[in-house]
Amino acid sequence: MKRRKFVAGALGLGAMALWWAKPGDHGEPYSAYFRALNAELRRNGPMQPAMVIDLDRLDANLERVTRTLRVAGKQYRIVEKSLPSPMLIEYIARRAQSNRLMSFHQPFLNHDAALFPQFDVLMGKPLPAAAAARFYRGLKGPFNPARQLQWLFDTPQRLREYAELARGLGTRMRASLEIDVGLHRGGARGNRELKAMLDVIAAHPQQLEFSGFMGYDAHVGMGVPSMLGSAQELLGKAMARYRGFVDVARRDYPSLWRDDLTLNSGGSPSYALHAHETVSNDISVGTALLKPTHYDIETLKEHVPAAFIATPVLKKTGPIELPALDDRSRVMSWWDPNQRETFFIYGGWWLADYASPKGLQFNELFGHSANQEIVNAAPSVGLGVDDQVFFRPQISEGVLLQFGDLVIVRGGRIVDRWPVFAA
Ligand SMILES: Cc1ncc(COP(=O)(O)O)c(C=O)c1O
Repeated sequence: MKRRKFVAGALGLGAMALWWAKPGDHGEPYSAYFRALNAELRRNGPMQPAMVIDLDRLDANLERVTRTLRVAGKQYRIVEKSLPSPMLIEYIARRAQSNRLMSFHQPFLNHDAALFPQFDVLMGKPLPAAAAARFYRGLKGPFNPARQLQWLFDTPQRLREYAELARGLGTRMRASLEIDVGLHRGGARGNRELKAMLDVIAAHPQQLEFSGFMGYDAHVGMGVPSMLGSAQELLGKAMARYRGFVDVARRDYPSLWRDDLTLNSGGSPSYALHAHETVSNDISVGTALLKPTHYDIETLKEHVPAAFIATPVLKKTGPIELPALDDRSRVMSWWDPNQRETFFIYGGWWLADYASPKGLQFNELFGHSANQEIVNAAPSVGLGVDDQVFFRPQISEGVLLQFGDLVIVRGGRIVDRWPVFAA
């Protein structure tokens, strides 16, 4: 008797635990914002995978960036790779009244020179001398690299290679130096490396002109466990290192020093913290204007997402049914209400996270498709064929290039299409 009671009790507990573990219904219909955007895309959209840029939201983010940097007396530099569309860059440049750009890719650099002949361009990474040679070969129009382009250098060797190239071309090149302010992604780590580079510049006055420093600090505000230091502490350390490099150049190389050198730093995660330091004068920001999901971080908590992938539902096939399991798949949709509806969307497998409606999930057992990705959800999401599934990209660089022309939205309406850079 006692034993039977025990078994019954154990079974009851087991059943309760199982019921407790059973997934709830995570589905919710579109929010008002996405309901309106879905209606607009159904009316006027391309009805294929598209990258939607919401200019009202971008404006709000840009205003935060420009106000913060203006108050701090720093110049704003637009990060081309994170906003890789000439018209998008032009829009931002006009609104922010900035003609400073950071470039990372030789083919884009040639486009920049042709499209923005008045801009000052700083490279965000050192390129092989052969890539620089290709830039000069492809250069057209009035952009004058000797005045408007700052190549980036991480080693004396690369400086010598460029000096040789400059000699061959009969030109002079502006040389900015990458300094390691704590990210440890290359550049001068200490005074010895810095001086070795400054010595090469000083030895080639006809070919090279010192134009400043680039000290990127992506580790500030992003990716470093908080027990290793708060973002403020890490920025303090980064700028102390930066100041050390500046002091060496000013003190030991007075003939190279000028007060209008570019002292660049930043990045989206740290830009707001730079308002409180007095070393840098030029801050690069790109991704923060669009806020993909990887940038859902404390230092950007006031920024709003402004880029969404939208793609139509092609098929709605009911409860999940897996190949070979066929009818027996029913147990899955019985167990998980979020598998009671199955959608196949136009395209997929992007570096992106579901944004709307809430409660969409990928099906690991079915697997990915870049052609027609499966999406499961509870019927409560209320999606039908031709409705849009909205994603947020995880990062902006690269992902923005995958959809053809950007679909530009203002006041909830599609107002334009802006081409992206061609590599
Ligand atoms: C040198 C450099 N500066 C600044 C940035 C910041 O770009 P974003 O604001 O888009 O993160 C990057 C991004 O990789 C970078 O490499």
